[in-house]
Amino acid sequence: MPFNETTAPAPRANLSAIVAVCDDWGIGRAGDMVVANRADMRHFVRCTKGHTVIMGRKTLMSFPGGRPLRDRRNIVLTRDASFSPEGVEVAASVEAALALIADGEEAWVVGGAEVYRQMLPLCARAIVTKNHCVRPADAYFPNLDEDPSWRVASVDGGHVIAEGEGDAGVSFEFVTYERAGRRSEGFLDTALGAALDLGAAVIERVADAVL
Ligand SMILES: NC(=O)c1ccc[n+]([C@@H]2O[C@H](COP(=O)([O-])OP(=O)(O)OC[C@H]3O[C@@H](n4cnc5c(N)ncnc54)[C@H](OP(=O)(O)O)[C@@H]3O)[C@@H](O)[C@H]2O)c1
Repeated sequence: MPFNETTAPAPRANLSAIVAVCDDWGIGRAGDMVVANRADMRHFVRCTKGHTVIMGRKTLMSFPGGRPLRDRRNIVLTRDASFSPEGVEVAASVEAALALIADGEEAWVVGGAEVYRQMLPLCARAIVTKNHCVRPADAYFPNLDEDPSWRVASVDGGHVIAEGEGDAGVSFEFVTYERAGRRSEGFLDTALGAALDLGAAVIERVADAVL
């Protein structure tokens, strides 16, 4: 059964979204990015390298030569059963993509708009580069500032795109959003594990005192 608001499982602690947005949360136009920001590209590589990335077929096609990202496990969503480019694992549904990810494997949802829309509810964290400008766009990320289920966990701000690094002069910040109010499965596992450890320690102490 496809996910919807009532059947969607809880966010997974090992699943994060990463995206670059403009002030209106625009992320793309005509199959391409809307802001050139090389510092953000390096940040993207730092976050995702060595891990798994999940993307839609159109985002893969937007990469140079339609090639997968180096040094990462690339999972690509498509409904086209004949799509099988080299270096890519294909998933025919969100459920199929999730089934490819092992417990504890760090995985990043890297776009585009259609995939973010479906997979954001499964993410425990979203790393958002906010480029402070507005560009014509036809693809958008959900506005997390207007969504009470997300809260800002940290802001690394005060950056400006330098000359030769893309759209020079545009200021930007890296904002980490976390789930507000709703704990991820990973958090609950950790909390339960800690509670059980504490309980065991208390029982041990009591047993030591009594026996
Ligand atoms: N700013 C950023 O950080 C950022 C990041 C990534 C992308 N982008 C931009 O976003 C735009 C692309 O986004 P988009 O929404 O057009 O496309 P997309 O999400 O990249 O890809 C959509 C495609 O993914 C496949 N798909 C989606 N959901 C699926 C499902 N549940 N099961 C199976 N296959 C599924 C389908 O492929 P088939 O048609 O093959 O079936 C669909 O056409 C581009 O402009 C890109 O540059 C921006």
